[in-house]
Amino acid sequence: MIYRAAIFDLDGVIADTARLHLQAWRQLAEALQRPWADDTEEKLKGLERMASLNVILGDENSNFSEEGKFALAARKNSRYQELIRSLSPKDLLPGAGELLAWLHERKIPIALASASKNAPAVLQALGIAHYFSSIADPEQSAPKPSPDIFLAAAQDLQVEPELCVAFEDATAGVTAIKAANGMTAVGVGNEDSLREADYIVCSLEEFEPRDFFLSAIRAATIN
Ligand code: BG6
Ligand code: MG
Repeated sequence: MIYRAAIFDLDGVIADTARLHLQAWRQLAEALQRPWADDTEEKLKGLERMASLNVILGDENSNFSEEGKFALAARKNSRYQELIRSLSPKDLLPGAGELLAWLHERKIPIALASASKNAPAVLQALGIAHYFSSIADPEQSAPKPSPDIFLAAAQDLQVEPELCVAFEDATAGVTAIKAANGMTAVGVGNEDSLREADYIVCSLEEFEPRDFFLSAIRAATIN
């Protein structure tokens, strides 16, 4: 297969920010005296903001008005924004900066498909915004596990989904990629929660781009 584009999730794939989302949610859960179960972390991974709040509220959900829930989500977001203020390139996960630079040098287009509305600010803080040809807008797509945001990213890059490799650390994200018209999924992290992926790596450091993209470069040179 000649892959022609790469699409990345952000939190937990490129940047060590999944833990900051969790920290902010955990503080809210504590303030509301909501339980934090063993599987809460895994459940929250990759979930958009209001869906995450629903997980935190659990069976207390119906006790809150829509307005009240928006206020709680805004509270979590303010805390998250405080936490990301100190982000710098040192918060890139292993192999992320190197992989992005490798693809960019070879003119392989790169898109972001993150559920986070804070993604543009995070990319800037990490010093990697210039690598991305497109940042898909999560407000214009149905949330993962819908494939919408991955399809939108491929369309932005003008590359057919089956010629795109996409990277995800969350179960819902891998499900989204696998539903995206033949897109290839690389799961990054814990094998147990990423079984659906076509390939699984512990970190991007383990991903060998030559095996996926070199033929694209050769084909572009010949054409
Ligand atoms: C995802 C994170 O990338 O973005 C989730 O994995 C987060 O933890 C979601 O809830 C939405 O982010 P934000 O910044 O828009 O609240
Ligand atoms: Mg993620």
